[in-house]
Amino acid sequence: MEEKIKVQNLYKIFGKNPQEALEKYKTGTSAEQLFKESGHVVAVSDVSFTVAPGEMFMVMGLSGSGKSTLVRCLNRLLDATSGSVFVDDEDIQKVDGDRLREIRRTKMAMVFQHFGLFPHHTVLGNAEYGLKVQGIEEEVRREKALKALELVGLKQWADRPLSNLSGGMQQRVGLARALATEADILLMDEAFSALDPLIRRDMQDELINLQREMQKTIVFITHDLNEALKLGDRIAVMKGGAVVQIGTPEDIVSNPENDYVANFTQDINRSLVLTASSIMEAPEPLFLKRDTVRTAMVRMRSIDRDEIYIVNSQRQPVGIITDKDIAAALKKKINNLSEIMNTEFPQTTESTPLGDVLPLCTVGLPIAVVNENGRLKGIVDPLDCLNSITPNTVDSEDTSDSEQPEDTENSSDSSTAESEKTVD
Ligand SMILES: Nc1ncnc2c1ncn2[C@@H]1O[C@H](COP(=O)(O)OP(=O)(O)OP(=O)(O)O)[C@@H](O)[C@H]1O
Ligand SMILES: [Mg+2]
Repeated sequence: MEEKIKVQNLYKIFGKNPQEALEKYKTGTSAEQLFKESGHVVAVSDVSFTVAPGEMFMVMGLSGSGKSTLVRCLNRLLDATSGSVFVDDEDIQKVDGDRLREIRRTKMAMVFQHFGLFPHHTVLGNAEYGLKVQGIEEEVRREKALKALELVGLKQWADRPLSNLSGGMQQRVGLARALATEADILLMDEAFSALDPLIRRDMQDELINLQREMQKTIVFITHDLNEALKLGDRIAVMKGGAVVQIGTPEDIVSNPENDYVANFTQDINRSLVLTASSIMEAPEPLFLKRDTVRTAMVRMRSIDRDEIYIVNSQRQPVGIITDKDIAAALKKKINNLSEIMNTEFPQTTESTPLGDVLPLCTVGLPIAVVNENGRLKGIVDPLDCLNSITPNTVDSEDTSDSEQPEDTENSSDSSTAESEKTVD
């Protein structure tokens, strides 16, 4: 796979002597012990992943799990303790200061929750700030900033002071500033978290729309699984500095690798996220040309099912027979499947959300799942469909990160300061 960002075995330890702490950590001293002994914090622990061009990559996890630290290592606002970060095959840790500044200005824009805007400057002044520090001439940067403001729906506010805008609108200005730089990577740290829920939803929709046109590579941090599921192509779930699972939204919801991940997925609307393909079973069909009532009976017994689908030579479902149909046919000495099969059956596609599959469950037959060519790819048992829409069961074990010290106030303060640093 072509990759835009590649992170390999990344560690970040805060404290007086991170290298020594890392050695101890790698030879078995736990993070808790290191913190107790010497105050070192293992904020990022052996993280590896890649992000494809144009991908929206979400980083999710509880407070203190290392999300911000990880993302700050991507543009080297923080120096990693060990491991590497490649952006377009360039090793970020090895570039000199000039090159780093250039990369931050032209390749990777960062949007923070506290986004380092200037309340007394105009909206336009804020939006063009990133370009100004790049030394781009006034006319060009104006044009670019206005275009970015238009994208986020704020062009008519360009000449007003930022302080006239609501929090949600200011957040859009922060986004416009990042978009105006034309960086093809956006790092967004809780960019929407301070917004009230309705505005937040609007911003999410807007980002999805913008992304369709822009095709940026986006690393987006969030606490919120619903946001991650809505926006993400893939989601990395962090716990205690480590990535515990990376997968598509559907993977994360349908196959959480542990209770920590499952806990996140408790409250989400599964009927929207899960699709027919995530719960279908192998169809084991009969072939209309080849099979008979007698072979159907043998097959039904061997796979222990009461219904079987029948497909034509293109593997498209043409009918279904039940064990009762077979018993009746044997009595009447009928051996031809086409004489007894039921040609009306529930059918859906692989990508149909379970919420839309649900009404088909009332028919009481397994649901045929077909691909775009109408071929039978699987069957969904109506009971499985109902069960899948109710949440995973999770042990009562405490999965919080309480062992790791939390320093949210500090980290958000520093993010404002650092956002200035990105463009200084
Ligand atoms: N500058 C620092 N010095 C010492 N420890 C730090 C520093 N920055 C972060 N940490 C610690 O590293 C760990 C990870 O912090 P980080 O800010 O990356 O978490 P986060 O997942 O972004 O949390 P949140 O969701 O609250 O923003 C925490 O235990 C935090 O206290
Ligand atoms: Mg954070």
